Amino acid sequence: MTVPLISPSILSADFARLGEEVRAIDAAGADWIHVDVMDGHFVPNLTIGPGVVKALRPHTAKPFDVHLMISPVDGFLEAFAAAGADIITVHPEAGPHTHRTIQAIKALGKKAGISLNPATPAKMLDYLIDDIDLVLVMSVNPGFGGQSFITSQLRKIEAIRRMIDKTGRQIHLEVDGGVDRTTAASCISAGADVLVAGTATFRGGPDHYAANIAALKGAV
Ligand code: DX5
Ligand code: ZN
Repeated sequence: MTVPLISPSILSADFARLGEEVRAIDAAGADWIHVDVMDGHFVPNLTIGPGVVKALRPHTAKPFDVHLMISPVDGFLEAFAAAGADIITVHPEAGPHTHRTIQAIKALGKKAGISLNPATPAKMLDYLIDDIDLVLVMSVNPGFGGQSFITSQLRKIEAIRRMIDKTGRQIHLEVDGGVDRTTAASCISAGADVLVAGTATFRGGPDHYAANIAALKGAV
């Protein structure tokens, strides 16, 4: 069974010590660093912008997995790319021209991801899958950390795994929201290879990060 990559969401970190927190999860075995960007418009919460990504960049060499929950998004792509994002993921629900947005991310030399809300069908990927590097399945409604995993998304993960395998290309299948030890195992069995984990990584404070990440990696 696949050992998943773990992308801790810094939404659950101590914002007053973000640089230190990023160094701590890096040392604890995080594969990527998940950055949740929210605009108070596409989602009912406000978080961080490119300035914070730029400030964090020197604190780790691990890929920055930047999840943009903002609308319109196109005007911010360049700023996040320049700030040090490695993977830029956008929501098709956030705008009318997703294909153009994907092209723009790739033109900036970054990996492009598509994130699907819980109500959005896998079918949305039909005419995008050949152009993307990652699919991010939201297993909660975006906006907040600490929510419960929506089980119906497992069927979607299975369907997307089949779509990805059919392309024969290397496309990551990442799951975001309510991932803990138990739901992690279900996600991996359904075909995911990257898990976002906010609450489950940062629970208990820095002394627990390594064990928390190891538990997710060993969940299957
Ligand atoms: C929700 C965010 C998630 C969230 C995950 O909109 O995209 O990344 O922070 O948090 P947990 O792991 O606590 O559900
Ligand atoms: Zn996220």
